[in-house]
Amino acid sequence: MIFLRHPFRVVFWGGVFWGASVGWGAPPAPVLSPGDNFEKHCIDCHGANGKSQTRLGRKSGAKDLTNAESMGKLSDAEIFKTIKFGRKNSKGEEKMEPFAGAMADAEIDALVGWVRGLMK
Ligand code: HEC
Repeated sequence: MIFLRHPFRVVFWGGVFWGASVGWGAPPAPVLSPGDNFEKHCIDCHGANGKSQTRLGRKSGAKDLTNAESMGKLSDAEIFKTIKFGRKNSKGEEKMEPFAGAMADAEIDALVGWVRGLMK
């Protein structure tokens, strides 16, 4: 019996260390739904309905995201870039902050599709 105990211990501790090294115990960063991300990051300027009629939206000149004509001119890639890297005006002043650090690419991707759904 004694010869069984050693290999068993190796498997047990090996499992514990493997678990620790792949990050068990550390909760993964929460991935929010596009609707939640919009509420968290975007409605201050663009408003819950995307029309950008908030105080900050008017002040910054944020676009009406429900306007099919102007939004229709933008590709998904352009919208993705705007969200990820932000927008500056021609004077180089920041109009919309970059969200690269706030959301994973997959979340931004999902948000692009969600924003398209605001169009009338
Ligand atoms: C600080 C205010 C502010 C916040 C917060 C903000 N935006 Fe904007 N957004 C703007 C302004 C201002 C513009 C217009 C910029 C321009 O015309 O150059 C804009 C433009 C856009 C456009 C049009 C893009 C284009 O290329 O013309 C989209 C799409 C957009 N925002 C989506 C979002 C989303 C999604 C979020 C949340 C992740 C967000 N915005 C957060 C201010 C903001």
